[in-house]
Amino acid sequence: MSNTGLVLKDVYRIFPGNVTAVSDVNLEISNGEYIVFLGPSGCGKTTTLRMIGGHDDPSSGTITIDGELLNGVNPAKRPITTVFQHYALFPHKSVLQNVEFGLKMQGVDKTAREEQAKAAIDLVGLSAMMDRKPRELSGGQQQRVALARVLVTRPKAILLDEPLGGLDRLLQMKMRVELRALQRELGITFIHVTHNQEEALSMADRIVVMGDAIVQQVGTPEHLARHPRNEFVAKFMGDNNVLHGKISAASGGVVTIDTPYGKVEADGTGTVGEEGAISVRASVVKISTDAVPSINGVKVRLDFAEYLGDSVKLHMDLDGKPFMAKVHEDRYAEIRAYEGKDVTATWAREDGHLLEQ
Ligand SMILES: Nc1ncnc2c1ncn2[C@@H]1O[C@H](COP(=O)(O)OP(=O)(O)OP(=O)(O)O)[C@@H](O)[C@H]1O
Ligand SMILES: [Mg+2]
Repeated sequence: MSNTGLVLKDVYRIFPGNVTAVSDVNLEISNGEYIVFLGPSGCGKTTTLRMIGGHDDPSSGTITIDGELLNGVNPAKRPITTVFQHYALFPHKSVLQNVEFGLKMQGVDKTAREEQAKAAIDLVGLSAMMDRKPRELSGGQQQRVALARVLVTRPKAILLDEPLGGLDRLLQMKMRVELRALQRELGITFIHVTHNQEEALSMADRIVVMGDAIVQQVGTPEHLARHPRNEFVAKFMGDNNVLHGKISAASGGVVTIDTPYGKVEADGTGTVGEEGAISVRASVVKISTDAVPSINGVKVRLDFAEYLGDSVKLHMDLDGKPFMAKVHEDRYAEIRAYEGKDVTATWAREDGHLLEQ
């Protein structure tokens, strides 16, 4: 058997009434990767996950795992399992009985299933709580039971749809670390769906950004943060400023764009006279009271400085449009003094990033 991982090729899902929920998805997911599908509501994340898990089938295209075709294969027959939201644990059964349940349904005999269930419970670190009922466990522990229940079937991949939705922020932060550590230990592919950028950035080996039923970009968290491919990704990832204009020069691998706010330059290639846009991350923008430079600088009004603990986010107004910067928190007092006033925002050419049109 090959070890090619999970491959989605030319996958479409078109619902009756001509609703294109998923369009032309091509993905190659290696075994053992932590993949996060990220995108706004309605972009096709759950539909894609359901097709991988076998709860729905593509209208066209193929899904394979290690070279084995999955289209049309019953969910229970796939080496992939889904952890449903709210974990769907049996409230009156113990942890052990909950984890054993799937094996019991498969007709595995009592001794064998107890042994396998105990091993799975041990993997998620709950051996001491095997006889408890779900209500006697914390939210995080309940999620680990749900995972043990899935692990006991020895899947190649685990699918999680918004697994941290509905948890309070503190528990979410704790579960992010726990889930990630568990996945590393198990070495199994995890595919996790969320619309939370921070969650995606903190957990994924690679993020698949979806929007309008298509894959907008695939990359490591760092790559997506630094090199968003287009305006959709730049805006959805957050904390990016996008400036539009017309390309007025393009040579030597540098493009100049004339925007209504001044000239900006970025590395890349383009055609003079065509539309162009760049994104600039909030964290690379420098704020001062210096004169506005002739290139890569704009005059903005600082509306308010938002203290975020380790940084300060500056909400600014660029001729009626929002503009953002992020500076170290030790500048909070200094920056607050500029509230309501005009300041100069600048950035280095290599920090401006040319977007695909
Ligand atoms: N069974 C269905 N019949 C018709 N349309 C559907 C069906 N299931 C989903 N859709 C539509 O397909 C699109 C994608 O839905 P999907 O549930 O995959 O989105 P999502 O990215 O998971 O969104 P959310 O973040 O809100 O969960 C939506 O426009 C939705 O209304
Ligand atoms: Mg969904």
